[in-house]
Amino acid sequence: MRSGADAQRPAVYGQPVLGIETSCDETAAAVVQGTQVRSSVVASQVDLHHRYGGVVPELAARRHVERLVAVVDEALERAGVEVADLGGVAVTCGPGLVGALAVGVAFAKALSLAAGKPLVGVNHLEGHIYANVLVHGPFPTPALALVVSGAHTDLLWIPEYGRYRVLGRTRDDAAGEAFDKAARAMGLGYPGGPEIDRLSQEGDPSRVPMPVPLATEDGYDFSFSGLKTAVLRALQQSPPPEVADVAAAFQNAVVSHLVRRTVRAARDLRPACLLLGGGVAANRALRERLSSEADRLGIPLWLPPPWLCTDNAAMIACAGAFRLARGERAGLEMGAWADLPWQDGAGEPR
Ligand code: KG4
Ligand code: ZN
Repeated sequence: MRSGADAQRPAVYGQPVLGIETSCDETAAAVVQGTQVRSSVVASQVDLHHRYGGVVPELAARRHVERLVAVVDEALERAGVEVADLGGVAVTCGPGLVGALAVGVAFAKALSLAAGKPLVGVNHLEGHIYANVLVHGPFPTPALALVVSGAHTDLLWIPEYGRYRVLGRTRDDAAGEAFDKAARAMGLGYPGGPEIDRLSQEGDPSRVPMPVPLATEDGYDFSFSGLKTAVLRALQQSPPPEVADVAAAFQNAVVSHLVRRTVRAARDLRPACLLLGGGVAANRALRERLSSEADRLGIPLWLPPPWLCTDNAAMIACAGAFRLARGERAGLEMGAWADLPWQDGAGEPR
């Protein structure tokens, strides 16, 4: 029987796991063994959606159909692994674009059935948290996680592996969505987060006023729509401010809001560690500010490297491996879900 600290430590799945990710605009496959990335292939669709200033769901699903087989082949080949060597297949089953998700889910089911390999469904956002495990190993619990992606901004309490309690979430736009919309208003390219991140370095945030979201409210929720409106208003001024100053002010306001709420939760709940994940976790200012605040609180902060922050299948394989190690298996009736509650990372929404 395991006891003490050992009982807290999750079992690690020893065999190679194939991860498949098609929830949005990246067609991705990876092979992960234990917590080691043996291969990770990401075929980006940014060129396809760029001219529309955002992801077109129908085009995304079609492109996944065209690319997925080649992407999986490449992931297996780079890892030097045959299908027969796999210990399981992990696939993102939500949340995301249903048509896009369905391509990956159908492929994973077919492969699992044909090769006789166990199948497990993974919550995409849980995957973002597990990007940390690929570089740092299993995290201590209880943990506090901030997941900031293109469609979600969730602050989570993780009392133990596989269990999540939502402490706060955005009431309107997600942080990444706010970056993308603000960038579009500024005439910058898609995705907007990296563009604003880069341009902010040349700007002065104090030259453009920004409101403090939910300033009079306690709690852990977020709101970004007021910041987006402030960007639009600033750009309508005559003469207009420098775009770099608008970018710097907007980024500073988004990061301050994210950091303030997260620090409040960390102070209240004293987690064993703080985990950051999702595309916006690649933002330099957010990483720096959260690092210094975590230092001040004396709580270790885990950050994935930027290539594991944005969508990839290695994080899905890793989260799936932990679920496989706990004995979870998905059946062929597994669906693809636009929304997937946190309590239930692998199954059907309740
Ligand atoms: O997690 P992700 O790759 O896809 C989703 O699950 O949505 O996140 C994509 C989001 C986009 O909104 C993108 O603008 C944002 O992450 N993003 C960034 C940065 N890199 C990507 N936002 C701010 N700063 C960045 N460096
Ligand atoms: Zn994502």
